[in-house]
Amino acid sequence: MAGSGRIIAGVLAPHPPHLVYAENPPQNEPRAECGWEELRWAYERCRRSISTRDYDVIVVHSPHWKTQVGTHFLGCDRFAGLSVDPVFPNLFRYRYDLAVDVPLAEVIAAEAAKEGLPTSMMRNPDFRVDYGTIIACHLVNPKWDKPIVAISSARSYYQFGNEVGDRQMIALGQATRRAIEASGRRALVLASNSLSHRHFTEEPELPEDMAHEHIYNHGQYLWDMHILGRFRRGETKLVVDEMPDFIEGSVSEAKEGSLTFLLAALGFPTYPAEVHGYGTVIGTGNAVVEWDPARGASW
Ligand SMILES: [Fe+2]
Repeated sequence: MAGSGRIIAGVLAPHPPHLVYAENPPQNEPRAECGWEELRWAYERCRRSISTRDYDVIVVHSPHWKTQVGTHFLGCDRFAGLSVDPVFPNLFRYRYDLAVDVPLAEVIAAEAAKEGLPTSMMRNPDFRVDYGTIIACHLVNPKWDKPIVAISSARSYYQFGNEVGDRQMIALGQATRRAIEASGRRALVLASNSLSHRHFTEEPELPEDMAHEHIYNHGQYLWDMHILGRFRRGETKLVVDEMPDFIEGSVSEAKEGSLTFLLAALGFPTYPAEVHGYGTVIGTGNAVVEWDPARGASW
């Protein structure tokens, strides 16, 4: 592995299990009638956009692989099993079988360690891959024809505060970018998280009954629109400046680090992002957002 690797796109790729449920892929047991079309069609537009560029690997940072000490990376060539969402087992019982780009994962881990971040490789082949990783990868690439690098969510935001968590995720994102460039890989990088994250406490009898789906809290909606406006104007450094307040003000899932990691990996884009769509799932704010570095080069 040497030289000329690059990130071909970065995507904010939220992972509500409802979106996979509503698509009825063969891997998922429960069957749905429909639902959450604005987000599913946003993913469809995102897939079409990404399909114009070839790439070798998907690198994904997931909020639901929570590691108490440091950042962990999947470290076996293949993982397979049944993933059941602990909150929505009625919606998501998904048989996964995925390939891992272990050499790239090891290079990213080594580069992150140089930044002083504690890192570890997950070498247990029976490890159950988290649904945040699986759902984001499925929605961006339902064919599963690319290997992935899966990165865990360290607990620094919770153990030391939002500012410490963000500094570590900036270091991790920058290390990931350097590792991708050194590896020669063309990588699609994902942040698997929602924006605002206050959600309903009761599920309707029919989960896909869209009469029940709506914005739950106007203040959180305003936060989401504020952040998406900054993405659309290329103001990602300001988003990172505001991240600790955004996390607290909107109970954001960005507290798991994925979004800051992605923005840092992309080098804090100053070119406009493409917001493919925004919608709620049980009241949480979700956006499918793509950054195309080639657009940045001509901006
Ligand atoms: Fe989540």
